[in-house]
Amino acid sequence: FLHKLVLGIETSCDDTAAAVVDETGNVLGEAIHSQTEVHLKTGGIIPPVAQQLHRENIQRIVQEALSVSKVSPSELSAIATTIKPGLALSLGVGLSFSLQLVDKFKKPFIPIHHMEAHALTIRLTNKVEFPFLVLLISGGHCLLALVKGVSDFLLLGKSLDIAPGDMLDKVARRLSLINHPECSTMSGGKAIEHLAKQGNRLHFDFTPPMQRAKNCDFSFTGLQHIIDKTIMQKEKEEGIEKGQILSSAADIAAAVQHTTACHIAKRTHRAILFCKQRDLLSQSNAVLVVSGGVASNLYIRKALEIVTNATQCTLLCPPPRLCTDNGVMIA
Ligand code: KG4
Ligand code: ZN
Repeated sequence: FLHKLVLGIETSCDDTAAAVVDETGNVLGEAIHSQTEVHLKTGGIIPPVAQQLHRENIQRIVQEALSVSKVSPSELSAIATTIKPGLALSLGVGLSFSLQLVDKFKKPFIPIHHMEAHALTIRLTNKVEFPFLVLLISGGHCLLALVKGVSDFLLLGKSLDIAPGDMLDKVARRLSLINHPECSTMSGGKAIEHLAKQGNRLHFDFTPPMQRAKNCDFSFTGLQHIIDKTIMQKEKEEGIEKGQILSSAADIAAAVQHTTACHIAKRTHRAILFCKQRDLLSQSNAVLVVSGGVASNLYIRKALEIVTNATQCTLLCPPPRLCTDNGVMIA
């Protein structure tokens, strides 16, 4: 091989993932095992369950990534692994597995910060110069950061409580969307997006959180409680049983999605203005990168497009397979 080869291993949450990437960014092979189906059944991630599933799959997934790449461990230049942040039990499985490989094949070990990997992934598919702004929104992440270099980040804002995907998952569960014939196999966020298309957002009025906060932080717990209350009221009014779908579920989904989009867009707008005022971002061709599972929501993307158009920024999203957790971003 002419190029250096890096094996990347990711087990920070509920995906066991591995990939081999060369130094020019070519992906030689990757493999992933998702635990989503199991966690949907239990209504959320139970850390010891996630740990057990990582243990059962890590060997096979790493082997698959290597064999698809036609690379043997001895040909690797280094082994990179997520060391933080994430679920301690999940992280431990990837870390101890990769340290075994490091020891056996005498390879250098590269510890990787999961969020930095998410933030830098766009550079595999697009020519993006530093500095750029990144918005990470998923089930476990919610942050805005200025990426000044490969390991030079300025955190501008984060969620003070839960992430937007987590809130959407909770609302979807509260609405029993798992029993909805059209959305039973979708993640909570996707189910909300799907149902929202059939609803009228004006039938409910949820106020976006933190409207007066002079920072770029986020919050979703307060909003979630207000939504919960509304759902409880509607359930009483309609007299429905546990597990049944409200006739107003689509309207609620539309209003929830709209309020979530407004909140995310407003906080991001503040971050762009903050950076431009201080010359931290280019005035004429600044880039906003949006990644994470929630970034696949087209309504939220539209809201972000309005913000980037109004501030002369370019909006970029990695392709969906690189938006969610994966081994490529680690490698
Ligand atoms: O990035 P991801 O696959 O995993 C992590 O959370 O790390 O994101 C999953 C999250 C879930 O909360 C899911 O409900 C949400 O992303 N999600 C969506 C959509 N698709 C997935 N949220 C809103 N709209 C969607 N279309
Ligand atoms: Zn992630």
